[in-house]
Amino acid sequence: MHYIRLLRPPAIGHLPKGRSTISLVLTVTTDLGDTFLYPEEPIELGFCLASHGSTEGPTKLFPAGQSSSSWQPGMRVLKTSLALHEPLRAETAAAAVLVIFALDTPALQVSLSSSAQILPWHDAAGAKPCNGLIAPLSVEISAARTAADVAIRDIVLACGETSSVQISIEEDMGESIARHIWDAGLTTAAFLADACWNEESPKSTTQLFSLEDKQTLNILELGCGVGVLGISIAVLMPQILQRASSRPREPYILMTDLPEARERACSNIARFQAHRACAGSKAQLEYEDLDWNDGSLGSFGPKACARAWDLVVLSDCTYNVDVFPLLVKTLSAIHLHNSKMRPIKDDKEASCTTRVLLSTKPRHDSEAALFKQLASEGWSHTLEISIPMLKINEQDEVVEIYSFTKATTRNGTGPSAHKLKRKASNSGETPTKKTTNKPSR
Ligand SMILES: C[S@@+](CC[C@H](N)C(=O)[O-])C[C@H]1O[C@@H](n2cnc3c(N)ncnc32)[C@H](O)[C@@H]1O
Repeated sequence: MHYIRLLRPPAIGHLPKGRSTISLVLTVTTDLGDTFLYPEEPIELGFCLASHGSTEGPTKLFPAGQSSSSWQPGMRVLKTSLALHEPLRAETAAAAVLVIFALDTPALQVSLSSSAQILPWHDAAGAKPCNGLIAPLSVEISAARTAADVAIRDIVLACGETSSVQISIEEDMGESIARHIWDAGLTTAAFLADACWNEESPKSTTQLFSLEDKQTLNILELGCGVGVLGISIAVLMPQILQRASSRPREPYILMTDLPEARERACSNIARFQAHRACAGSKAQLEYEDLDWNDGSLGSFGPKACARAWDLVVLSDCTYNVDVFPLLVKTLSAIHLHNSKMRPIKDDKEASCTTRVLLSTKPRHDSEAALFKQLASEGWSHTLEISIPMLKINEQDEVVEIYSFTKATTRNGTGPSAHKLKRKASNSGETPTKKTTNKPSR
């Protein structure tokens, strides 16, 4: 996947005869920002200016003077200036949004769950081969105040052939791991949205969320970043619950991360709250800091302490092998917390099971150590799906989604010996071969 990113806020220039320009410095890069889009042929970018509340559609903008809107092979940065035929007035410009997108894939939003750009099984037979996502970007344009260094990804989650819900996720323009969207989060959100309505989806959300007989649905997200996964789950909650036989009444999602993620995550929760009525979601969504340095010691904030967690989710948090011990200990501490919150009943052997949905875009072999470390703490795993990622002119990559479970027996020690024997087949080994679990169309 590639993402259009602004390297600094748009600058408004004023020309004679009351005309204006918008100057942009942008790049088209991967989630890690380490490589730049290298297309075989130049890719034309499109620019639209829309005003909030305006009944007219967006105005297409074109480069002014000598500037270009073409992303060429080998480029790292594109500087361009857009001509506005009308002056950008302070009072009207306050609500204008500029959308930057690849003309090749002329969508003004990132379309998830029905898009072959993310989920290859939506590739219609006979259609032009899909080259992978170039995620469009929106940014508020204001002549009145200093431009903020915040950009927005508008994301559409299909909820059936005809209906859809939209989320807006703020990102920082600068480089910060915690303050922009990552491929695994976006792909997992797409996969869950697809599972909500596509009868042929390889997994049902009832399975993935382990919803059978659930009285509560408390979801804890670790390393949420800007919140694309947690917010997508909150928005999709009506669809997720629709298919479940038991319907937990007040789903609750707590997104957590390091303090540097807090500002963007909270802004995005506020955006969700503003639109939750349209999505019909009753899910409660909150944020709290949770550093795995503290979590590994069983030290959690008041919100994380207040509930037992039916599901823990995390995406793209397993790229740094140095933090695996902290992350693994944090997951085990959450399980211990769950065991204390849910007293074990005499008549059940394994009455407390903690379930984790973890998605990763493996970047190097050393990441396999995670599976060994989790296994040594009594976690067993299942590969739910491996989704091949389409990427223009780049090597094959996949997003893998795993379920991990840890169960506590009556004496609090973990699965009984015979169970351990059975689980050895899937808990000890590491996922060396990246198989593609591509469902049939
Ligand atoms: C690559 S980002 C993924 C963000 C998001 N899950 C997504 O998919 O878009 C990894 C996230 O893990 C968080 N993280 C890294 N180390 C952490 C720690 N020790 N405690 C809590 N969060 C941590 C980072 O702050 C960052 O938000």
